[in-house]
Amino acid sequence: LNSTVTLNNGVKMPQLGLGVWKVNNAGASQSVQWAIKHGYRAIDTAKQYGNEAGVGDGLTKALAENSLNREDIFLTTKIFNGDQGYQSTLDNFENQLKQLQTNYVDMLLIHWPVDGSYIDTWKALEKIYRDGKARAIGVSNFNVSKLEDIMSISSIKPVVDQMEFNPVCQDEDIKEFCDKNNIHLEAWSPLGGGRVLKDERLQKLADKYNKSVAQIILRWDLQRGVITIPKSVHEERIVQNADIFDFELSDDDVAEINGYDNDDRSLWYGGFFWHGNPTGYKDGVEEWD
Ligand code: A2P
Repeated sequence: LNSTVTLNNGVKMPQLGLGVWKVNNAGASQSVQWAIKHGYRAIDTAKQYGNEAGVGDGLTKALAENSLNREDIFLTTKIFNGDQGYQSTLDNFENQLKQLQTNYVDMLLIHWPVDGSYIDTWKALEKIYRDGKARAIGVSNFNVSKLEDIMSISSIKPVVDQMEFNPVCQDEDIKEFCDKNNIHLEAWSPLGGGRVLKDERLQKLADKYNKSVAQIILRWDLQRGVITIPKSVHEERIVQNADIFDFELSDDDVAEINGYDNDDRSLWYGGFFWHGNPTGYKDGVEEWD
């Protein structure tokens, strides 16, 4: 659970953390408290999730409860699509810090590559980074050409690209590009939002290792060098999802799961990102909400 990766700016980040997409404020506060109590040290949220206040509440309570300091936790949040642009990102980020009850985040990501804005948004992230209000900066849902865009105008490389990544959706071209450029791939919806858990092939592997399907998938993430942030609002699942450091998948079984890639994206994503969104991502936000 304390296994870390070293990001390309030298900052260390836990390879497993808690995700809170689709969780309300009260639920996020509770999940964060359970996770930290059970040893998680990384939390991933976003303004778009509408629960930064809940995460901030849970974090403050958990630090007190477990005699931890803010520096013991790796906190990630993301820039809301509607806030993108240079000044707007800077202004709105201050309020995100307030919601999160902290004066810095460990990692700040551009949530989606909003056409016409993401370059200016990246420049704002650079300023936030230089000002010490984010220890690392990166992106989410950027394909290879958009990653190249950022890298062509900036001396600061994204530390991660957070993508939909699970056994049936592996973004292989992005993984390869990231590996080559020392950018970590981070998996959102590592369990496929729950739908991959019913896969019979994975169930067979789970039986073989005497683990759950969720644990097999998350272990596979670790062995592929992917940062992973499973979401759960159930304490026993939060515990289970972190209990993946006492076994190892064989190389053959890792390769077996690599073979499950089917480009099977969640619907919204497929409609608005991968196949292009002619109306721009702001409409996508409304769709998401
Ligand atoms: P819940 O929050 O009710 O526990 P992802 O992280 O891929 O988006 O997946 C999250 C989904 O998987 C949620 O529906 C979550 O439900 C469920 N989930 C998370 N961990 C487990 C687990 N260990 N076993 C079964 N379902 C899980």
